[in-house]
Amino acid sequence: MKSLFRIITLITVSLLVVSCFDKDDRNYQYFPNMYKSPSYETYVGYDTDVFENGQEAKLPVEGTVSRGWLPYEYEDTNEGYAQAKANLENPLPYTEENLNKGKELYTIYCAICHGDKGDGKGTLAEREKILGIPAYNDPGRAITEGSIYHVMYYGINNMGSYAVQTNEVERWQIDHYVMDLKNQLDGAPKREFEKVDAEGPADMKKGIVLRDQDITEGNEEESHDGMKSDNGHGNMHAEETSSEENHSATEETSEEN
Ligand code: HEC
Repeated sequence: MKSLFRIITLITVSLLVVSCFDKDDRNYQYFPNMYKSPSYETYVGYDTDVFENGQEAKLPVEGTVSRGWLPYEYEDTNEGYAQAKANLENPLPYTEENLNKGKELYTIYCAICHGDKGDGKGTLAEREKILGIPAYNDPGRAITEGSIYHVMYYGINNMGSYAVQTNEVERWQIDHYVMDLKNQLDGAPKREFEKVDAEGPADMKKGIVLRDQDITEGNEEESHDGMKSDNGHGNMHAEETSSEENHSATEETSEEN
């Protein structure tokens, strides 16, 4: 009799405990500050004394650009597009190396839509996931080195921007390859590779300031921003701003020249 009473009490208590649980409600939180950490916005004023105006970080000095990044002077407008199309030229020499690198990157980023041949018949086009992909020799578009770079930078209609995935050297390498595909579609003769003479990395030849140029390993020369290169620091920087591929591409370029 006594044990029956105990069993009944036990069942009642457990029912009481379990039945009041509402699964739409938040459960117990043992360390609530791990669930609700304060999320600070970098430049917004808070009631902290980290920096003046309560900011969590300092704004860059006016007129400076971050390392490894250069401003692009053409605007994301129809006029900007037209100007880039007319005036912007590929600063990288047309070398086999740049072309091969461009092909590699093209295959990664562009071929899925534009097709390996640049005829606009990539896998996504064939499966009708993305429509209206032009062939690179579409006469109505008459693409140029400048317009290709511009659309990679900003994107155009259904095509997104590639400014984040690629750096400027990589974009110009892709650019060479796209022009090459256009030539092939047009049946034009193959362009001759440019010869690059011995001094300096090839990419510097036409005045492009290479990002990460100054951090090339073993390069002790004064770099474009007037700072001595320092490998330890440089490597850190490379991880921050560029893909390893670019880093090694830069190395190759400067070694071979
Ligand atoms: C998601 C599919 C997709 C990918 C990936 C893609 N494109 Fe495009 N691309 C398009 C479409 C769609 C258009 C046509 C846009 C329009 O004008 O409506 C286009 C247009 C273009 C044009 C012609 C723009 C003009 O001036 O009229 C060029 C050049 C081009 N793409 C280059 C590239 C390059 C280089 C890459 C890789 C870095 C790339 N595209 C990746 C879909 C894509």
